[in-house]
Amino acid sequence: MPEGRGSWGSKLGFLLAASGSAIGLGNIVFFPANAYTYGGGAFYLPYLIALFVIGIPLMILELGIGRMTRRSMPTALKLIGGTRAELAGWFGVLNAGIITMYYITLLGWVVGMLVGAARSLWQHAELAAFTPAPGALTEVGTFFFDMISGWCPVLFVVIVWLLNLLVVVKGARSIEAVVKIFVPLMWLIMIVLIVRGVTMPNGVQGIFFLFTPDVAAMTQPAVWKGAFSQMFFTLSLGFGIMTAYASYLPKKTDDVQSATTISLMNCSFEFIAGLAIFSLLFACAIVPKASTLSMMFWVVPEGITRIPVMAQAFGVLFFALLLVAGLTSSVSLVEAVVISLMDKFALQRRHVLIGVFGVGLTGSIAFALPTVVDTGLDHCGTFGLSLLDLVDHWAFGYGLLVCGLLEVVILGWLFDLRRLVAFINESARFKLGRSFVVLVRYVLPLLILTIVVLSIVEETGGLYGHRMATGSIRGLHIIAFGGWLVLGIGGAILLTLLRRRTPLEEAP
Ligand code: PHE
Repeated sequence: MPEGRGSWGSKLGFLLAASGSAIGLGNIVFFPANAYTYGGGAFYLPYLIALFVIGIPLMILELGIGRMTRRSMPTALKLIGGTRAELAGWFGVLNAGIITMYYITLLGWVVGMLVGAARSLWQHAELAAFTPAPGALTEVGTFFFDMISGWCPVLFVVIVWLLNLLVVVKGARSIEAVVKIFVPLMWLIMIVLIVRGVTMPNGVQGIFFLFTPDVAAMTQPAVWKGAFSQMFFTLSLGFGIMTAYASYLPKKTDDVQSATTISLMNCSFEFIAGLAIFSLLFACAIVPKASTLSMMFWVVPEGITRIPVMAQAFGVLFFALLLVAGLTSSVSLVEAVVISLMDKFALQRRHVLIGVFGVGLTGSIAFALPTVVDTGLDHCGTFGLSLLDLVDHWAFGYGLLVCGLLEVVILGWLFDLRRLVAFINESARFKLGRSFVVLVRYVLPLLILTIVVLSIVEETGGLYGHRMATGSIRGLHIIAFGGWLVLGIGGAILLTLLRRRTPLEEAP
């Protein structure tokens, strides 16, 4: 057991940290955006099925291997399935690294909006009907694009990176101290927002929209694909984050119970976020027909400007919520990368932190670069934003699913899964049966593969939808896809081949 890995002070600390990782931008803005795109009420059934079929089982596995091996993903997989499996682990870590970079850029922009909200942005606006359309920007949207077309976000990105380092500086111990304040805080802000949303006139319409089932829409494969991808994203699955966090747990912990608790905490947060946002948008006659990014930076904020009293305070609260929830997610990404390097190369945490900071900050700054490269995209063509869209499309859209697929194949086929199940059952009150093995070996690989294939078939254009899928952008997508594969696979091979400096204990 390498020295200095650290451990959680309490089970509660672990549960708060893991749910803090899961609850993030995905819950507050991506979920409502997806739920709207896929027809409101039609989204719920596939979403709930995804939670029980894929979300909780995969989380049990990720927690189980972390607790069993007490290692982060690449080393854990090496112990379980040999060198090929380690390769898959590093591929996940590299994807997590790429995502950390632009997740932090998004948080930098959130800081910019928070500053704007605290100053003069949130004046009470007219209650006129508003449908977001490309090119038709409101005051909030204009503020956003003006902000990202300047150099301030670079400063904000540096600040967010420093905050992340501060939280992970002592590993589990410092993360735990922060999540004990941040996680309850974000629930509190969310409750304030939902009370405001549902008490607005017509707010309840939004809730009806979210709950009226639409059976016809449910027959479309895209709805199922959307629900399953959202589940991976929202539960932070696929990159070994839960494995890293579980490796700091004592040997005897109930993974089934933890996975269920974390997933249900996450999904209930997502659920009430959906209620808050839909009631607000419907009350303000705003059609949430928007991509995830626009939802976050100018559609929902536009709704907030129309709140009759204290719009400014709600604007500040909304971006504070995004920042707090986003930080508890980004630290989990940073921690997963840091501990993976420490576990293999026996490096000191400080040294790894300096390296990760250097590389990560450079990447995040690239995503924040204001240079306009594509004037065809209205104000939207800043270099950083275009790059972010491309990378998001591959590293997030496909990275999570591909990593999840590799994980279940490794656990189901390169390893005696029954041993892991027996280990989990030793400390679980609710025991996993044979059906769990069947699920992991056959159902999950087939299901995830189907989603990947479906995604490829109906390629849309990521954050910008139709706008990114056309013309020269398509060429850029091909380059981004190539870059993702070469960097991801090349980097993973390199990291696997580099000499291990920690003793690899006997396979569990
Ligand atoms: N679960 C986080 C969210 O909902 C995003 C995330 C994904 C974080 C993968 C870490 C890893 O925002």
